[in-house]
Formats: sequence, C-alpha cells, structure tokens
Amino acid sequence: MADGEVIYETEALIAEDIDAYLEQHQHKSLLRFITCGSVDDGKSTLIGRLLYDSKMIFEDQLASLEADSKQVGTQGQGIDFALLVDGLAAEREQGITIDVAYRFFATEKRKFIVADTPGHEQYTRNMVTGASTADLAVILVDARKGVLTQTRRHSYLSHLLGIRNIVLAVNKMDLVDYDQAAFDDIVSDYRDFAAGIGIEDFLAVPVSGLKGDNIIAKSSATPWYDGPALLDHLETVGLDFDRRRKQPFRMAVQWVNRPNLDFRGFSGMIASGRIAPGDPVRVLPSGKTSTVERIVTMPALGGGDGDGDLGHAIAGQSVTITLADEIDCSRGDVIAAADAPPEVADQFEATIVWMADEPMLPGRPYAIKIGTNNLRATITDEKYQVNVNTMEKMASKSLELNGIAVCNISTDRPVPFTPYDDNPDLGGFILIDRITNATVGAGMIHFALRRSQNIHWQAVDITREAHAEQKGQKAKLLWFTGLSGSGKSTIANLVEKKLHAMGKHSFLLDGDNVRHGLNRDLGFTDVDRVENIRRVGEVAKLMTDAGLIVLTAFISPFRAERQMVRAMLPESEFVEVFVDTPLEVAEQRDVKGLYRKARAGELKNFTGIDSPYEEPENAEIRVNTVEMTAEEAAEYIVEQLFNGS
Ligand code: ADX
Repeated sequence: MADGEVIYETEALIAEDIDAYLEQHQHKSLLRFITCGSVDDGKSTLIGRLLYDSKMIFEDQLASLEADSKQVGTQGQGIDFALLVDGLAAEREQGITIDVAYRFFATEKRKFIVADTPGHEQYTRNMVTGASTADLAVILVDARKGVLTQTRRHSYLSHLLGIRNIVLAVNKMDLVDYDQAAFDDIVSDYRDFAAGIGIEDFLAVPVSGLKGDNIIAKSSATPWYDGPALLDHLETVGLDFDRRRKQPFRMAVQWVNRPNLDFRGFSGMIASGRIAPGDPVRVLPSGKTSTVERIVTMPALGGGDGDGDLGHAIAGQSVTITLADEIDCSRGDVIAAADAPPEVADQFEATIVWMADEPMLPGRPYAIKIGTNNLRATITDEKYQVNVNTMEKMASKSLELNGIAVCNISTDRPVPFTPYDDNPDLGGFILIDRITNATVGAGMIHFALRRSQNIHWQAVDITREAHAEQKGQKAKLLWFTGLSGSGKSTIANLVEKKLHAMGKHSFLLDGDNVRHGLNRDLGFTDVDRVENIRRVGEVAKLMTDAGLIVLTAFISPFRAERQMVRAMLPESEFVEVFVDTPLEVAEQRDVKGLYRKARAGELKNFTGIDSPYEEPENAEIRVNTVEMTAEEAAEYIVEQLFNGS
C-alpha cells in the first residue's frame, strides 16, 4: 500500500498517453477516488458518463466505444457507457468488473484518477488495493433497492482504509420518477448505519448515470436537491495532502543518495508537514538530531533541467534532504520535526486484511513493509475477526482470503510509525510471505501496545557464553524433524545418552511430553502447530542461553517455523536433523497405532495423511532409518557434531 505511486493500467492506449496527459495538467491538484458498487447499480455507466461529459475521452477510445456499443446493441440508448469502463474482454463476457481498473480524466479545475473497484465480496482485496490511496469514495446505490449488504461492506472498507470523504450516489433516480421521499429514505437509512461505524459525514447526491442528472451539472429534474452536482463536489473537495500538510514534518527515507564522498542526501517522499533549510530535525528510531542544510530535487541531482535547491518543500513532494551533521540515517529511518517525532515501537494493534489463499497463521513469521522499512513480524494475537457484511466481531484463530481481523503484531525491531488514521504512508503496511515473496496481507496500525514501551531487555552479567564455558561446552540446539513415527524421539534419546556419557550437559524436549504440560492447550491444526513450535523454540532458546545442548523432537512440519527458530539463535548453534523415514515405512511401523486411526478417519489432521509435512531443504544432518538403525543414526550424529570429543 505504501507504493501509492504505482499505477496499474489495463488499457495500453491510456498507458501510452498518460505521460503527455499528466504533463499537460501537471499544475492542477489531483484527486484519487474510488467507485464502489456492482454492475447492477450502474457503476460503470456512471464513470463512463463522468468521462464522457467532461469531454475527456480520447478520440480513438471514443470511436471504438461507439463501434462496440453498436455491436452489443444498446436498444436506442446511444453509447453504452459501461463499455468504456469494463475494458477487459473477460469482464464484458462475465458482466462483472474483476480487477482494479484505473482511469484518468481532468477538468478545468482538477485532474482525477478513478479506481473502479469490484463489488463482489470475493474481491475485497482488490477493493482494498484501490482504496488504499484514495481521497474519496463514491458509494453507489440503486434508488429502487436502497442500502444493501454490499453498500455496508464498501462503506466499512472505505472508512477502514482511511477515506474521509464519502459520497452516497443514489443512482437510477429516473426509475423512481425523481421522487424526493425515496431519496430521503435511503439517505436516512444510510445515515443510521454510517454513524455506527464511525462515518461522521457524507454527501448524498441523487443521480442518474444513464440520463446524466446531477453528474456534471445540477438537474432540473430534482429541484428539491440543494447540494452540488457530483463533479462539482469532486472538483472542490479537500485533499488528504492538504490535511497532511498541516501536520508536523515527517519523511521516511527511501534511499541514501551518496554519489560521492562530498554529498550525502536522504531521499523520500514527504509524508506530512513542511520543511525548509535550517529546520531542526530528529532521525528515528535513533533519536539523533541535526538541522536541514539543503533540499535538493531529483532532476538537480541527475544533471537534467533541475529546479535546483528548494526554499521549502511540503507533503506529497519527493525530495532529497542534506543534514548539517554527519549522523547515522539509513533506509527505513524517519526524518521528523525535532520537537514532534513519531512514536517508535515494536508491538502494535492493527487491522489486517488477508489477501492470500493460504490462511494467516498467528505465530508464523512474515516479512513486513512499514513505510520504507522492511522487517520481520509475527501476528501474536488475533483479537477478533470482523464480518464485513454485518460488522459483527467474531472469535477466530486464523484468517482466510478476504478476511479482516484486529490483531496484535510484533516486529523484530522497533520502527517509527504513526497511526494509519493520521498518515497512511507511515501507518499502513503490507505482509509478505517470506518463502514465495507474495503479498499476503495489508494492514492499518491503530496504536502501539504500551507493553512494548515498558518492557526493556534486562542486561545480565552472567552471559550465555559464561554459562556454556562453565559447563566446558558450546551451546547447541539439535532440532530433530520428521514424520510421526519416523524415529525422532528414539534417536534423540540415544544421542542424549551418548552426550551424557561424554560429560555434556544436555536436555531433551520431546513433542509428546511437552504437549502434556506447557502446550497441553494445543491441538494439531496448522494454527496450533505453529504455536507449538514457537513456544518450543522460545524454551529451547532459553536453554541454550543457559549453556545447554538442547535436543528437540517435534514433527515441526512447516519450513517457516523451523526457519524462525534457526533465526533466533547465533549461526552454527542451530542444527537441523532430518529424520528421513518415508511415510510408507512410518505407517507400516505404526508404533502408536495412530496411522491406522488416521486412515480410518478417526484422527483428523494427521501429518502425512491429511496434514502436510514440508521436508527440510538444507538440513545440516539427514539420517535415514531404512538405511541404518537408530543406534547407527545416533552414532553418526554424535560423530558429525562432536567428533567423538
Ligand atoms: S507438531 O506437528 O506440532 O510438531 P508434535 O511433534 O508436537 O507435532 O506432536 C506429534 C505427536 O503427537 C505425534 O508423534 C503423535 O504421537 C501425536 N499426534 C496426535 N495427533 C496427531 C496428529 N493429528 N498429527 C500428528 N501427530 C499427532
């Protein structure tokens, strides 16, 4: 979401002309807005009408539109405006708008980017993508139908994504004879609902996309309506950047610009406020202070026809700042007004919208991008899920595609941020799967958890090295992984006996045992397995801090969690031991009779049967219990790791 400048365009025609077009209108302000509603509400017709009547359709686009309309046959209505917007062939065939399509148009007063977001619930993530950069949302309802479930869903999402200007466009007024009472009823209905979700204000406009009433100009068909026409409102409504300009100065550093030793500039887009040379600033999270020396623009640096240095710069501008002092400042840091720095924290409450087919699992490490920061994060607690149709809060332990939940999140280091409502650039984030690199979620920070400020790491005098040294050994974690019945516990037990005989200090954490105590509240769903391994990882880590050689025997079926534990320890302390027993062999042995039960359907989510096992790709040690006995495997492991010493 932070990449607000990226424009996805669905029609090459527009993409080619866009540069020239924006250039021509570059000195006008830009309003980004979304339209929400379904095909039935006449959304595409409405957008088409806006583009057409404001005379901003490209000539050749218009020609093709007229040809298309003839083909489709619009029963004497003239041009079918919906065709203009539903540009993709697939959409036309299905009669629905599937992706986020962005359109550009301009009037004398302003230029516009409109994101046409799909109406169906399964496209919630598309709507979120479109809404995350918008200043305004046009929520469309059909005058004959009034406020529907999807009206509520769209309004909730728009509000959630920080859109402050909501327009309720009551469309198809021509079909209710421009009846004021019908309009008033819908508005009153909507007002009740809107107040309940925190929308304080909105503009309701009676329109007809088909006939053009109250879209470009006020219509004589609705003399009782005393508000502006839709376009008037779009041309004059306040922009989010106007609001942000009044906030204290903040800029996330996108990159450090160091062409030579004489110049070090910090480049980024100003998220809020205003800055001028001489202004005192503070760099977060370090808290170091300095003053702004110069504000250099990008072209000036590139040697082109640059504007040179600026006397000041404001929110929305991309600039390079140099500071009077040589202080540490790198990508991801925030440069802020010295007397109004943003908070810094490593635990937040946030709303998350899940965008991947694979469900979100609390406890699993994800990559997170907040502002220009890339770090690691886990969802530590899912407080509740929100039903987007009814706004009900529901208890939940994971999150499926298009699901929305309020969660606590913990990052691996402190980051400067603002609540999303103050500034989406510094309070919005995306979650990324660390293995596939796909964006899996988007989120909005509400506030920092107070515990993150009040718990500090206590320095201890007896270090982990001192603990290990006293025991005459180096701490290690031997992480055994493999299917149930593969022989993990048996081999780990034999290894520990050998270590004990060698005078080593060790401890064995075994799956079945730990599940009797510390983890007795956990079952075998993916969510519980992730939490099982997270807790075991933390305990094992503490035991290595105490200088022990720790052995763990857990199926630990997921790469992501094994990787997480590995990352918790110093390099070379974590040793992954893959007990590679094929499923057929483990199942044939069936020491505990669990495979038989699983096959009989009496035991759900059994690893290898109806729950996955992700084999290690780079285990330090691999033993195969078909090729060797447990005793031989144990000997081999000790030999590999301790060389008999
Ligand atoms: S893990 O997947 O979360 O790492 P763990 O190693 O703690 O699992 O526990 C696995 C043990 O629990 C198995 O060896 C088996 O004895 C028992 N068990 C009971 N139900 C299941 C199940 N559905 N899947 C796997 N193991 C199960």
